[in-house]
Amino acid sequence: MKLTLTSGSVSEQRTPLLILGLYADETLPDGLAEVVEGEDFKGKFKQTLLLPFVPAHATAVAGDAPNQMAGSRSQPFAARRILLLGLGKREELTAEQLRRAYAFALLRAKAINVTSAAVALPDHGTLDRNTILRAVADGLLLANYRFDRFKGTASKKSNDQPAEITEVVLLGEADSSVLELAEAAARGVLLARDLGNEPPATCTPTRLAEVAAEIAARGGMELTVLDREQMRELGMGGMLGVSQAAHEPPKFIVLEYGRKGAGKTLALVGKGITFDSGGISLKPGEKMDLMKMDMMGAAAVLGAMSAVADLKPQNIHVVAIVCATENLPGGKAFKPGDILRAMNGVTMEILNTDAEGRLVLADGLSYVQRYEPDAIIDLATLTGAVQIALGTHISGLITNNAELAQRVKESGETTGELVWELPLLPEYRNAVKSTIADIKNTAGRAAGTITAGAFLENFVDERPWVHLDIAGVSWVEVPPKQEDQAKPYNSVGAVGFGVRLLTDLIQRYAAE
Ligand code: BES
Ligand code: MN
Ligand code: ZN
Repeated sequence: MKLTLTSGSVSEQRTPLLILGLYADETLPDGLAEVVEGEDFKGKFKQTLLLPFVPAHATAVAGDAPNQMAGSRSQPFAARRILLLGLGKREELTAEQLRRAYAFALLRAKAINVTSAAVALPDHGTLDRNTILRAVADGLLLANYRFDRFKGTASKKSNDQPAEITEVVLLGEADSSVLELAEAAARGVLLARDLGNEPPATCTPTRLAEVAAEIAARGGMELTVLDREQMRELGMGGMLGVSQAAHEPPKFIVLEYGRKGAGKTLALVGKGITFDSGGISLKPGEKMDLMKMDMMGAAAVLGAMSAVADLKPQNIHVVAIVCATENLPGGKAFKPGDILRAMNGVTMEILNTDAEGRLVLADGLSYVQRYEPDAIIDLATLTGAVQIALGTHISGLITNNAELAQRVKESGETTGELVWELPLLPEYRNAVKSTIADIKNTAGRAAGTITAGAFLENFVDERPWVHLDIAGVSWVEVPPKQEDQAKPYNSVGAVGFGVRLLTDLIQRYAAE
């Protein structure tokens, strides 16, 4: 979708559809008050009303569309139709509500088959213009996504909505740099969604490495991709153990943007299990297909690096690691009872081969220490337990550093990608100690998300570190209709959670 920002006049904008956001219980703009019956539209949050208009200059009655008005008449807007969009009470408006409202409006626009539209950016007392532009752009860009690469023409046709809206004009005053930010971040989100939705047969570790190569080329980044042999040389026992039965070659991917000394060094580490069968500790068959999304941490990291590649921020050094492999059973597979030695020397007793994410992250976190990062953030669809603890609307955060956690929380609030800290009590550190090795890879059902975090802490050398468990927030299960969801900007399937949060965090570091 192409977004353009202009300060043109709203009433003179020629467009098939003008989206006009209005606050609850406020007077309608000139020319609308007389056509909207009092009860039809109150501006309640996400309430919409479609007004098909005759262009101002035409006085003849067109009447080719159902008309909400008492007969078509000329009116003060050049738009072919207007979609009134309720924004709720002016004083209650938040960026997240804007994201949701404009995503909802975009879906309504698709439903009436327009392929281009104009949006009058709403005015507001407390949110500044750039915040409004960013939120509106996010809502539009993210809601427009649809994954239909595997649909034939027949099934595409039976879905009578356009695949996407190709052009939206944003009318209002704000900084165009904000639009560039939104576009770069959205591109990253959509890339992450594509990777998550793609079948595991093609979204392999090799494919993730190819995507990393494309990003590296676009952003002038340095790319290193380690194969099994190189992992062996480095002693990456976690990566090697988990990938042991996989025929698809594992990849340890390192993307480096900027250089040490140019601002802060930020390390991102993503869990990239391109299919998690559980291994020898095999998962039940039901919903196992979902485990193609066990690389959404990696997808978030790649999505954020895609945004970095587009934005090319100065004054920041970002090292991104993707730990990519399948987790499969087989004659060569690693087994419960095995002991693996991670790259930093810590030995890990395997009690359950389905707790594989922490094993590959052990090497990812160990490896990244060589850059002496000022902050380390790992993202992983790590535990089913986080879904039980927090559900699908907020991710779990575990940290050894309150200040970094605070930054991540703030970027979460800004982008609507929320995080919630879980306590890393010393008792949970003890829970992962092993009798036969240094640590064990499961510590029972209790506090499963926290003990996973306690496991990971063994690999971060006391540097500021935040772990985000995104297993609950990374996937939207089969419809309700997209517009009926709490977050209509999320399509069904992969969410791309974390890309916007990371992009915001990187931007903030770069701006210091
Ligand atoms: N990839 C799963 C976690 C997961 C569950 C992601 C649901 C997305 C949705 C992870 O590798 C896993 O299997 N975790 C186990 C850990 C357990 C064996 C300690 C789990 O959560 O059951
Ligand atoms: Mn698993
Ligand atoms: Zn997994």
